[in-house]
Amino acid sequence: MNYLNIKGQKQLNGSVKISGAKNAALPLLASTILSQNEINIGNVPDVVDINTLLKLLGKLGASYDRYNNHVKINTSNLNETKATYDIVKTMRASILVLGPLLARFGHCEVSLPGGCAIGQRPVDLHLKALEQMGAKIEIKNGYILATCPEGLQGSTIVFDKVTVTGTENIVMAAALAKGTSIIINAAKEPEVVQLCEVLKDAGLDIKGIGTDTLAIVGTNKKLLNFKEFDIIPDRIEAGTYLCAGAITNTKLTIENVIPMHLDAVLAKFREMGFSIQKDTNSVTILPADEIKPAHIVTTEYPGFPTDMQAQFMALATQANGVTIIDERLFENRYMHVSELLRMGADISLSGNTATVSGKPNTLNGTDVMATDLRASSALVLAGLVARGETKIHRIYHLDRGYENLEGKLSSLGANIQRFNE
Ligand code: EPZ
Repeated sequence: MNYLNIKGQKQLNGSVKISGAKNAALPLLASTILSQNEINIGNVPDVVDINTLLKLLGKLGASYDRYNNHVKINTSNLNETKATYDIVKTMRASILVLGPLLARFGHCEVSLPGGCAIGQRPVDLHLKALEQMGAKIEIKNGYILATCPEGLQGSTIVFDKVTVTGTENIVMAAALAKGTSIIINAAKEPEVVQLCEVLKDAGLDIKGIGTDTLAIVGTNKKLLNFKEFDIIPDRIEAGTYLCAGAITNTKLTIENVIPMHLDAVLAKFREMGFSIQKDTNSVTILPADEIKPAHIVTTEYPGFPTDMQAQFMALATQANGVTIIDERLFENRYMHVSELLRMGADISLSGNTATVSGKPNTLNGTDVMATDLRASSALVLAGLVARGETKIHRIYHLDRGYENLEGKLSSLGANIQRFNE
């Protein structure tokens, strides 16, 4: 297994190009199951999770070419509707093939995604919505067996909780259903918005895009005619690099971004004393005279994203004072705390609230272990500012969602290298 070695306290500067959003590319690749034609997709991030989903689609019978950040995919010869455990266990977002497969073929088998480090992460809301649309759902030997021989029926779906992939699954299911579906309490993340926009451009009658209520007129199993498109920039990767500038308190620019997608994160940087300059598709963070503590509450978009919580906890260790973090979406998203404590951070947990008593320059490099994607990036950020060397083990977590992380950080002046254990 590989590990990253970081020599801390290097000044960063310059600019870095942000890649396409993993969490937009995943539902969009799954949505190609709804297409009658070959599709060209640009700005696809070169990360492990994307490779995993392409492998799954290939096993279902799709053909695809991938070169650089471009994917050409054709699902007209799909001949399999079983997403097996061996792939789904490595990436729970494989659940995103459930809705489109069921809508197109009237039956499918998808391995139940296990939980993961950040929580049990059930898919009950996905299944309940599909049952409301007429599907018969059975759980057998760890698989979801879904059948709907008459085709899915447009329905009014009210999500008890806002669920990003739940919304995406049901949007894709509703696309080929008979009749109109209304989705109430839908997720509004930019990645959900892009899925809806691409399906609309492919001929789907969908209204309410970007709001929490979507109205979709299903095509009654008629496949859609996709136009080519580029994946939107990754707002979480973008926020992570801004945190790299913030934690080393140096000027840093991120390019190829949609600043509006970062509004809640930029507001939090300002609250902590940093200045932010926004341009059409770039953002620059400027050093703070003094890094101030903050109160962070994670919530659904457009609020402060849970996927930035770990990174801001690392930053909060450098603030003068006490930062309170309230993780409201996942029940166990504090796996990075024990590792930060080993580096000398002063953090205490009570339920879903973390209290970070920050003090600049008090972290020391040591061996730490990555546990999940965003926790790993928090450890990288801590390593950038820690005294001495930090070795981050099990970095396969990082490779799932950050394209060329050490290359991008090295280009900004960080001393970071990948080694074999
Ligand atoms: C998506 O996960 C993202 N993944 C996650 O990013 C992100 O943290 C999360 O949304 C929240 O923004 C992708 O888009 C591939 P949810 P998802 O369903 O859809 C509960 C990353 O780091 N829930 O919105 O799985 C659930 O347990 C990843 O890139 C149910 O109870 O999250 C959680 O508490 C990590 N039943 C809450 O809802 C369900 O059927 C929000 O989960 C579904 C969800």
